[in-house]
Amino acid sequence: MKVTIIGTGYVGLVSGVCLAAKGHQVTCVDIRQDIVSCLNAGNPHIYEAGLSELLTQVIESGDFEATTDLTTALDRVDTIIVAVGTPSDGGVIDLSYVRTAVRKIGEYLKNNDRYISIIIKSTVIAGTTDTVVREEIETASGKYHPAFGLGMNPEFLREGEAIDDFMNPDRIVLGYEDPETLERLEALYAPWHVDKVRVNTRTAELIKYANNSLLATQISAANEIANFAAALGNIDIMDVINGVSLDRRWNPILRDGTRLNPAILNYLIPGCGFGGSCFPKDIQALHSQGQELGLTMDITKAVLNVNDVQPLQVANIINSHIKELSNYKILILGLAFKPGTDDVRESASLKIIDSLLKQGATIFAHDPIAATNFSNAMGTEARKITITSEWRHHINDTDIIVIVTKWPEYIDLENINLSGKIIFDTRRMLSIEKVTGAQYFAIGLRQS
Ligand code: UGA
Repeated sequence: MKVTIIGTGYVGLVSGVCLAAKGHQVTCVDIRQDIVSCLNAGNPHIYEAGLSELLTQVIESGDFEATTDLTTALDRVDTIIVAVGTPSDGGVIDLSYVRTAVRKIGEYLKNNDRYISIIIKSTVIAGTTDTVVREEIETASGKYHPAFGLGMNPEFLREGEAIDDFMNPDRIVLGYEDPETLERLEALYAPWHVDKVRVNTRTAELIKYANNSLLATQISAANEIANFAAALGNIDIMDVINGVSLDRRWNPILRDGTRLNPAILNYLIPGCGFGGSCFPKDIQALHSQGQELGLTMDITKAVLNVNDVQPLQVANIINSHIKELSNYKILILGLAFKPGTDDVRESASLKIIDSLLKQGATIFAHDPIAATNFSNAMGTEARKITITSEWRHHINDTDIIVIVTKWPEYIDLENINLSGKIIFDTRRMLSIEKVTGAQYFAIGLRQS
């Protein structure tokens, strides 16, 4: 099947490359010529494990092409996926990129008498496709739905695991407003033999928000319990999580009688809060939309409140042992919001470093791939810290080491003599018994 995708960000590009790898002929459209040129040369402009190799493969097979020429890309297909960004604008999502993209499709339809299905893949609040999107296309084309088709196909991929998540999804949600569009969605996802959920577009939109919101709620709840464990003392939150996560409702007994290892059970692991471009933005957008509907949205508010202050637990715990940090050198390990990505949006590292700088600490920071993005995100404040590419060289003249992102290389700390140092492990990466000589601190663990 031939498909055109508008937008080559995380969702657009990964979807395009993976659909092409499954045998569809994909044209990705972006307004930026530099991005299009890079993509056609096999160089993705975003970092994602395995993406570069798969892009090269689908270019070579002739199934993928990028272009800035929207009209030609629309001429080729009868199914268009819109995957442009929906950034947060003061807590509500900014739909301007979606509006612009679908208006252009409407203008095209005005002069072309064909039935085209427009499928929204961007994360948009419930009701957007069957109101905002429909109205924009109707106004620009002068045609009324169902003279064109409307669909909504949310994406559940995680940064760092994007290719695997797209290729092996838990389910695929097919939101549609007309039978032709459902048929095209079915054809697009025919190569995937997984559960498919067929619903109207606003249900599809809410499934995406509900999914992220419930996962984020679980993380904030685990963080609150972790802070409780530390306050009461003589409890290690990881023992609590281990005990909880053996409950079959979280960790079903598999067909072969085994279970998942609770240590890898996600979304129950406490830390310094959830970051990234999705959870914080989506929970906030759900909250704002609920309030507009006259609801109090108490739970989403609490989830955001817990998350806002969770990174500050690091400074609080350090301060409970050292009141004055101005003479201390602190090495921050990890700047990305999670391993496997160079994305620093809403990363806990930003808040942690800010609060330590305010107390006059001297900061060294390392990340294997996110250092440049971090410096850009910090702006002029970045001048106050020293970014290093060789974190091991700084261990000797550092007083406090804080692990913020669970990059695998930091496990080496277990093999380094850390006598006299303080280690703050916000991700529970190290085995306490293997940390030699250092005082060990963590979220959800109080040491006397
Ligand atoms: C998230 C969702 O997991 C995806 O399903 C969704 O498609 C995506 O948002 C999106 O809406 O586009 P992502 O933001 O890439 O994916 O990252 P996650 O791996 O889910 O992690 C989010 C944050 O939660 C990270 O800061 C992570 O460190 C934190 N987290 C995760 C915890 O603190 N504890 C956990 O147990 C799990």
